[in-house]
Amino acid sequence: MKRRPLFAANWKMNKTAAEARDYVTSFWGGAEALVTRADIVLCVPFVDLEAVHVALEPSSVKLGAQDCYWEPKGAYTGEISPGMLASLAVAYCIVGHSERRRLFGETDATVARKTAALLEAGITPIVCVGETLEERQAGLTRQRVSEQIVAALGQFSDEQRGRLVIAYEPVWAIGTGVADDPCSANETMHAMRQMLGGLSDTRLLYGGSMNADNASMCCAQADIDGGLVGSASLDPRNFIQLIINGLKAS
Ligand code: PGA
Repeated sequence: MKRRPLFAANWKMNKTAAEARDYVTSFWGGAEALVTRADIVLCVPFVDLEAVHVALEPSSVKLGAQDCYWEPKGAYTGEISPGMLASLAVAYCIVGHSERRRLFGETDATVARKTAALLEAGITPIVCVGETLEERQAGLTRQRVSEQIVAALGQFSDEQRGRLVIAYEPVWAIGTGVADDPCSANETMHAMRQMLGGLSDTRLLYGGSMNADNASMCCAQADIDGGLVGSASLDPRNFIQLIINGLKAS
């Protein structure tokens, strides 16, 4: 059975609460026309969650966060728990983004703990994996992606894995304007789908310089179920056009 397409915006560290409200005002009408055909998610900074939650109330667009901690509460200064996210109707949360791995010391082990805590809280984790340019050039793409997937998902049942989303984001393609070739991305993602005894229900997103021009070629690939979109999601009209183009092909 074909998996339902999913398009997730990753705003990263962009937009104040006021800017976030303006975005939703321009976005939700166009997005609403597309939610019968795809899940659409806005992964916003923590400080924007409340504003976007309220602004999205009349809409079927879902709210997402960009990170969390795994403990439910306590002395963890600066951290946010999955339960706190759930209380704001957060439905999805990115974990293990390469920027968090590279800049903030995220490891495969911490990604696994966060993924488990999110599932426990009823939030869908979007687990990011992907190789660096050096790993790519050394022919280590599948090995690295496999290590990340086994570490993050190995502990779960098939049923739990089916509720997860994995974003394949080659690190060298993120924010560079140079996306992976769609066929090459699909080959890697096809290999990912065979991992852990088969991930046929798990939605696999491509991320890394996806834009309105390449979305349809990306989404035409058999193992690509949508996108995790950074720069091209920051303008509401661009993001809607990207989703429209992606859905033409999926
Ligand atoms: P990009 O970012 O679309 O700007 O490359 C994607 C991501 O980091 O999730």
